[in-house]
Amino acid sequence: MKITDLVGKIQGEFKISPFRILKILSKIEDKDISFYLKDWEVEISEQTFYFLVKHLKEGYPIEYITKKVSFLGNEFFVNENVLIPRIETEDLVILAINLIKNKDIKNVIDIGTGSGVIAISIKKQLPKIKVRASDISEDAIKVAQYNAEKLGVNIGFKIGDCLDPFLEEIDEVQLIISNPPYVETSFVEKNRFLSYEPRISLDGGYDGQSFFKKISNYSHLLKSKYLLFETSEFTVRKTAEILSALGKVQILPDSFKKERFIFISPDY
Ligand SMILES: C[S@@+](CC[C@H](N)C(=O)[O-])C[C@H]1O[C@@H](n2cnc3c(N)ncnc32)[C@H](O)[C@@H]1O
Repeated sequence: MKITDLVGKIQGEFKISPFRILKILSKIEDKDISFYLKDWEVEISEQTFYFLVKHLKEGYPIEYITKKVSFLGNEFFVNENVLIPRIETEDLVILAINLIKNKDIKNVIDIGTGSGVIAISIKKQLPKIKVRASDISEDAIKVAQYNAEKLGVNIGFKIGDCLDPFLEEIDEVQLIISNPPYVETSFVEKNRFLSYEPRISLDGGYDGQSFFKKISNYSHLLKSKYLLFETSEFTVRKTAEILSALGKVQILPDSFKKERFIFISPDY
């Protein structure tokens, strides 16, 4: 199908501008938008057309089509077994890197690593520190392992629930970082744009707090550690209250000035 025909077919049905169609096409086919702008007779494959419609109709994420995401300057592989990393999480990693440098931290764990973006980005920037990462999903760990290899970093990966995989070596851990599932079940269920990402990566239980409640049970092991969590701007106060069992809580904003991160320090 030619671009002209495609635009004519799709524009009306989805109430979308030709420019927006070309922008999506350029992402799906990994081409510069000028490629389409300069020749409207270019042929689009059936597969591209199928994905374009799937994206527009059902919200199927483009990242699962292209199988890649850029995160803090590195390209990560993603598939339907992992959450598509969000831009806010880059802020979490920057906070962690500054903290690690300021406090001379040498041993970090990332719980719920998904595609591995947090652990791998930290290790890329600070190759001398020890970074380990876990996930409850074996399929997610396979993706994280693939990314670590592709980006040339050595991370110790483990499969397991919450803090369990690290209990034996917990004494040596100085910083725990996590972007756990924190969306309320009812929101996950009614939001069709979330329906392609793994439920386990998003669903934080009826109030979004399941993971935070779970980790707060380990207060006896976590008193002397730095803790850094991502959560939702809408439930951050509830999360802060739960995590106050682990120490004095500070709420920090992301780049969009949304209160999203929770920091707990053993220093005060
Ligand atoms: C919001 S995603 C974050 C993925 C990745 N860290 C990122 O920031 O893009 C949460 C991840 O936590 C994992 N997870 C969910 N419950 C968990 C648990 N109880 N223990 C460990 N990992 C868990 C999910 O499989 C998912 O990969």
